Amino acid sequence: MTAQPAAPLPVLTLQSERPQDGPLVDALIERAFGPGRYAKVSERVREFATFAAEMSVCAWSGQRLLGCARMWHVRVGGRRVMFLGPFAVELGERNAGFGARMINRACEDAAAAGETHVVLVGDEPYFSRVGFAAAAGRAVIMPGPVDQRRVLVRALTADAGELAGPIQPA
Ligand SMILES: CC(C)(COP(=O)(O)OP(=O)(O)OC[C@H]1O[C@@H](n2cnc3c(N)ncnc32)[C@H](O)[C@@H]1OP(=O)(O)O)[C@@H](O)C(=O)NCCC(=O)NCCS
Repeated sequence: MTAQPAAPLPVLTLQSERPQDGPLVDALIERAFGPGRYAKVSERVREFATFAAEMSVCAWSGQRLLGCARMWHVRVGGRRVMFLGPFAVELGERNAGFGARMINRACEDAAAAGETHVVLVGDEPYFSRVGFAAAAGRAVIMPGPVDQRRVLVRALTADAGELAGPIQPA
């Protein structure tokens, strides 16, 4: 039997989230996380954070939305910081590097805008591959119960320094 050639990867276009993308992004997030997402401590942050559409990334293949990474303005210990999430790739399009490309794009856009850190709550084995590391001790304090090992930070500049303090509105 002859092996079937692998399906070609979709050509991905990364763009900032536009107002008209909102419903498609929300639907993708709903499919990826389900209603359980409202219980996450990250949702408590997003209740007071300021949405940063220009740094939020949508991954498109033509008219089809394949992934999203939303970004939010917050403060940690008085410093301006970006908070990342929700972050999702459509089931069936995963494991092709799209997620890593979106994270890197969001971080590049944030660095270009003068931001110094991106914080998120997520799995360290995944996010360590894209430059995130656990915030030391309880340095970044979330507004609710969380496994502190999942509070991850990526410094965007060599002299960004450490973050310390509660996450608060921007
Ligand atoms: C997490 C997610 C966005 C990654 O998207 P993706 O496009 O598949 O990511 P990439 O292609 O960049 O990376 C895939 C690799 O990461 C690994 N990986 C995926 N999720 C992982 C996790 N939670 N922990 C450890 N490794 C993980 C995959 O096994 C794969 O490994 P390989 O390269 O060795 O094969 C996607 O799996 C998803 O939408 N999951 C559901 C929503 C979710 O959990 N979002 C993150 C919440 S913080």
